[in-house]
Amino acid sequence: MIITTLHSTLRWSTRCLPNIRVPLSSTCARRLFSNGIIEENDIVLLQRTNNLDSQSILTSPLRPRDEVKLSHDKLFHNQIIGRRLRDTLSTKKRRAFRVADPTLGEYTDLTPRIVTPIYSQDAAAIVDLLDLNPSVPGTDDEKLEIFEAGTGHGALTLHLARAIHAANTAPPPNPKLPAADIQGEAIGTDQGDQQLEAYTTWLQTRRAIIQTLDNKKEHSQHAQKTIKNYRNGMYYHSIDFHVGTIEEYISSRLSEAPVPFLSHAILDLPNTHSYFELVAKALKPNGSLLIFCPSITQINTCALDARKNGTPLYLEKVVELGAAIGVGGREWDVRPVRPRAFLKARAEAAEKVQAAVEDSAEDSAEAVVEDEDGWELVCRPKVGQRISGGGFVGLWKKMFIE
Ligand SMILES: C[S@@+](CC[C@H](N)C(=O)[O-])C[C@H]1O[C@@H](n2cnc3c(N)ncnc32)[C@H](O)[C@@H]1O
Repeated sequence: MIITTLHSTLRWSTRCLPNIRVPLSSTCARRLFSNGIIEENDIVLLQRTNNLDSQSILTSPLRPRDEVKLSHDKLFHNQIIGRRLRDTLSTKKRRAFRVADPTLGEYTDLTPRIVTPIYSQDAAAIVDLLDLNPSVPGTDDEKLEIFEAGTGHGALTLHLARAIHAANTAPPPNPKLPAADIQGEAIGTDQGDQQLEAYTTWLQTRRAIIQTLDNKKEHSQHAQKTIKNYRNGMYYHSIDFHVGTIEEYISSRLSEAPVPFLSHAILDLPNTHSYFELVAKALKPNGSLLIFCPSITQINTCALDARKNGTPLYLEKVVELGAAIGVGGREWDVRPVRPRAFLKARAEAAEKVQAAVEDSAEDSAEAVVEDEDGWELVCRPKVGQRISGGGFVGLWKKMFIE
């Protein structure tokens, strides 16, 4: 079941509101780095000045009493707050760090994660492949809706939101956020309620939205926090977060208005082929469906399935992302696997069988157990000891149907 939230009077689509959403207002958001002076709550990047090979450190939001833990060393947030960008700071053990504002790519690559993100260079390539050209407010182009599943770390979500957010007008303050003029506790007072109403009305005027969905609430919440923390949530109000299944979300939108509503859809999750038919129904003609997979064989499965099922999608491009292939070639990882999703489904089926047997329903039990063996062939280049980026992108276009 899709989790519903805050604005329970409204539902999907034009009336759609996200689950668990607490967007920030850009009009009320405090300036960020605009005068180059670092303030409390800013997130900064610490770069070693005399060891360019060492990885930069991304701080948490700066608080006067907190510290950056370094190996056998530390740097107090108080030493950073009030300094200028590019200042050099020295730790207790006299290690020198330069303070910088993280780029969006550095931010998504370095923020604490509970799920593997699409790395920044791959995310940038994906946004480029989608060829997004949102128009500015004041033009009457159709609404641009992009569907993404799963949200994961929110890395691609942030890259997508940056590409489209300028199509939206500036939002009014959201009283649910600390940056607003009125604090969340004011909701229930006339002023707080008016602000919330104005903000909720504004949400429906957006011309470009990222609809991002994950089936794990924990992942979605972590991504929301990560996105809210980036430059005081400057892209947050262009994103609606959903927790549930792809089927529930798309079917619910199509049942409200049975016309295609998506300009683009992106899938970064297992078994992408099983969502092609449904997503194709929601895609506008010439809209794109882009999938990101670790293995080329998954692209093959999608291509074969789409052809077999007569799904009105045309495979336009297959691109391998990741570091350039060096001299001497690149080793590939080719081995049979049984995807975790398959094993989980099989375990669940086995449980049902057991329950059915216990209920003496042998006939139905037989039907549940029968399945294919679920083996797939992993087939991808090896990148060092562990794979840290890269993958395959398949880009399909929705065909016009007479
Ligand atoms: C590899 S992560 C996505 C990373 C994300 N693209 C990013 O850049 O941060 C895959 C996500 O898909 C979610 N997921 C897996 N199966 C799903 C499904 N059937 N429906 C929705 N989300 C799913 C997982 O919970 C996980 O958060």
